[in-house]
Amino acid sequence: MSGQKINPTVDSTQPIQSHSRRGLLNGLWLALSGLALAEIAWLVGSFLKPLQSTDSSVQPADIIDAGPAERFVPNSVTAFPPGRFYLACLEDGGFLALSRRCTHLGCTVPWSPEKMQFVCPCHASVFDIRGEVVQSPAPRPLDRFAVYIENNRVKVNIGKPIRRSAFGEAEATYK
Ligand code: FES
Repeated sequence: MSGQKINPTVDSTQPIQSHSRRGLLNGLWLALSGLALAEIAWLVGSFLKPLQSTDSSVQPADIIDAGPAERFVPNSVTAFPPGRFYLACLEDGGFLALSRRCTHLGCTVPWSPEKMQFVCPCHASVFDIRGEVVQSPAPRPLDRFAVYIENNRVKVNIGKPIRRSAFGEAEATYK
């Protein structure tokens, strides 16, 4: 009995094992909590995401329904502030959707019905009804957006402005 020795290392490992077990449990708890949070976030996200619809009257966000084609008279320009474009109905009845952003430094260009021109208030660039430069410093015509007619309604895709160097007949859309 008196010859029995107590190994000092046995006692000192007990707290270490306990610590590492606690650390493992904490890590597991954190990982599970993270997983649960991610799942909740995914559920909330799926709930808030708009449902895909087969209803053709529902337009994608980038498509603006400008209205019935008859509403627009030749040689007129109608502003669509939410879409940030003008719908020009040309003399021959063709439609052209023009960005209201000046191609010089990006100011908003108002339409002047008296002058039948777009006149930029910033540095006096002038554009005609087709968006072509009449007076610089604008380096190129106003950008345009794709127009199409569906069920006799004029629709404009404002998703992607189209750069151009000059007006071409093919740019206008007809009924
Ligand atoms: Fe239009 Fe300069 S921003 S002319």
